[in-house]
Amino acid sequence: MTLLKVEHVVKKFGGLRAVDGVSFALDRGEFLAVVGPNGSGKTTLLNLINGVYKPDEGRIFFEGVDVTELPPYKRARLGMSRAFQVPRPFPESTVLDNVVVGALFNGGYDLRRAREVAEEALRYVGLYDKRHELAGRLTFNELRLLELARALAGNPKLLLLDEVMAGLTPKEIDAMVQLIRKMAEERGIAAISLVEHRMRAVAQLAHRVIVMHQGKIIAEGPPEKALNDPKVVEVYLGRPWR
Ligand SMILES: Nc1ncnc2c1ncn2[C@@H]1O[C@H](COP(=O)(O)OP(=O)(O)OP(=O)(O)O)[C@@H](O)[C@H]1O
Ligand SMILES: [Mg+2]
Repeated sequence: MTLLKVEHVVKKFGGLRAVDGVSFALDRGEFLAVVGPNGSGKTTLLNLINGVYKPDEGRIFFEGVDVTELPPYKRARLGMSRAFQVPRPFPESTVLDNVVVGALFNGGYDLRRAREVAEEALRYVGLYDKRHELAGRLTFNELRLLELARALAGNPKLLLLDEVMAGLTPKEIDAMVQLIRKMAEERGIAAISLVEHRMRAVAQLAHRVIVMHQGKIIAEGPPEKALNDPKVVEVYLGRPWR
């Protein structure tokens, strides 16, 4: 059942231990939210998982394979897909072509099959009707959905989402979280989503929450339990977490 295993990873920037001995495991189809104050190491942890950084200590296993030394593109081929905080589409290409690229490069399909997979992914996220529009003409929310479709078309086992909810309206956030949960439950795609500290609602929809502080995990468990942990309340200035 275990898809990803992170074993005591450490990442230093000079004297700073941005990620300081983090360990956790993730199952197939599990939706994990990582929350924590600014600078607590969330993005650095994601960069370690997908290979942008190599850890100074510790190992990372994906489907039982030690991927610690693999570059990001090789991890992508194994089924790790990353969606970015600021979506970066090819603005002069159509929505469909943007997704076809994802299917070709990460899904390993031939062109004909890639087009089918891309159309299916667009239907899944609700952008099918816009498939012939130029990506540059999409709204911010639609660009986020395009990122998800592009990731989905790559046939991922794990989605890594860096604050994909930032800048969306509450209603759009709701739809996005539901979609991530649906992908986890219907497709068995695991997701690790970094969550802005104000978005309690998002973390509550995850199967499990990890709370980071100064590079360490200070609480972990089902949302209600982790978010109300006394250590977490203390870090958030003595208030209940919201
Ligand atoms: N490339 C880098 N070089 C030096 N220091 C870095 C680098 N990247 C991150 N840091 C530092 O490491 C710590 C963790 O940063 P990180 O971006 O992982 O935090 P975060 O939890 O994602 O924060 P935020 O909520 O602001 O996105 C911070 O103190 C940050 O300043
Ligand atoms: Mg960050």
